[in-house]
Amino acid sequence: MATAASAVRGLVIFGAISVAVWMWYTDTFVNFDDFHPTVTEVRESVESHLKNETALFFVREGHHFVSPDMSEAWKKDTRSWINSTGHFIMTGVSGGLGNRMFQFASMYGIAKRNNMTPVVLESIQIREVFRIPDYIPRSLPPGVKLVKFHEKKYAFYDNRTETLYKKGQSVQLFYYLCSWKYFQNVEDDLRRHFRFRNEAHFRKQIDAFFDTALLELGINNKGEKVTYIGIHARYGKDMRIVYEHMGYTVAPSSYYTKAIRYFENIYKNILFIVVSDDMSWCRKNIQHPRIRYNPFKDPILSLALLGSCNHTIMSVGTFSWWGAWLAGGDVVYYKDWPKPGTHLWWRTNHEDYFPPKWIGMSG
Ligand SMILES: *[C@@H]1O[C@H](CO)[C@@H](O)[C@H](O)[C@H]1NC(C)=O
Ligand SMILES: *[C@@H]1O[C@H](CO)[C@@H](O)[C@H](O)[C@H]1NC(C)=O
Ligand SMILES: *[C@@H]1O[C@H](CO)[C@@H](O)[C@H](O)[C@H]1NC(C)=O
Ligand SMILES: *[C@@H]1O[C@H](CO)[C@@H](O)[C@H](O)[C@H]1NC(C)=O
Repeated sequence: MATAASAVRGLVIFGAISVAVWMWYTDTFVNFDDFHPTVTEVRESVESHLKNETALFFVREGHHFVSPDMSEAWKKDTRSWINSTGHFIMTGVSGGLGNRMFQFASMYGIAKRNNMTPVVLESIQIREVFRIPDYIPRSLPPGVKLVKFHEKKYAFYDNRTETLYKKGQSVQLFYYLCSWKYFQNVEDDLRRHFRFRNEAHFRKQIDAFFDTALLELGINNKGEKVTYIGIHARYGKDMRIVYEHMGYTVAPSSYYTKAIRYFENIYKNILFIVVSDDMSWCRKNIQHPRIRYNPFKDPILSLALLGSCNHTIMSVGTFSWWGAWLAGGDVVYYKDWPKPGTHLWWRTNHEDYFPPKWIGMSG
């Protein structure tokens, strides 16, 4: 009996040690991007080029290989390099627009903290969409080598970024950097950088849409001003099915009902505006006498529409997050994300991802 008991004890101890080693291993070596297909694809390509870090300039952007004409870029950049601190910082390039916004914002905040010069390549989507100023270099000076910094988790603030300057080297940040804490030091700058290049054109279309909506619904905007509440409802198949095993969730109809009621109790003369990747679901499941659904197909204009509202009801995903940030008012977010116990859940810290003023609600 004694031997059986000690054998069991041995097994339990062995099991506990294995679990501890496994947790340490996955935490240290398994990057979040390992399970994000589109990103993996991009990453492999970037990584293979970065093996030889001097060959950095050949970075895969979305579906195209872009090899910026270096001599042209260098000409433009010799000016912006003049005032550089000697150490440069870049991001990895991956994900959709929301991810890119996090990468840029966080890199910019981290650069400021560490007295480094941020670099945003010429061809990066963020330059096409937003007014990223020209004094931010579009390329690295020749010969500058980068050391790689990998964040530990996903939506998680990694405070090692506060002391990058100690390395005394130029750095490339991998990957998502999804925390407001990286850029709380530079919010004012970011409000200027994240202005749409197409602002005037967007403004016209959005104002016309708002005016028509008020007219159709018989809403009076003369006395008490209308409060626009943007609802971003991510409900696409990717979140519900493709990435479900990783821990992605979508908000149910009951969440929107609750959030709508919350705003109705605070504001009067409201108009709700729904932006979604599944509008037919929204028309059935998010309803209100004063609601209008996004008529625009262009995702950038749709982001601008969310940003033009006064307050926001978020769902999941970084597009939602940035729609809320751009609007700048009250924010309600869906707090049952990610699914507990999943890979994504272990890599997410709500306090790091959602600013403290935003309000979490369940379905
Ligand atoms: C790295 O890239 C540079 C420039 O393309 C090239 O000259 C060099 O031979 C490469 N080094 C290795 C080890 O591949
Ligand atoms: C470099 O910094 C100086 C002093 O702040 C400024 O006057 C100058 O315009 C800057 N040059 C460029 C190219 O940004
Ligand atoms: C970073 O956070 C850890 C705890 O997560 C703490 O022990 C450490 O002191 C922090 N480092 C810095 C530089 O703030
Ligand atoms: C809503 O936001 C617009 C700007 O987008 C602003 O002009 C208006 O005053 C805001 N409405 C309220 C009720 O705060």
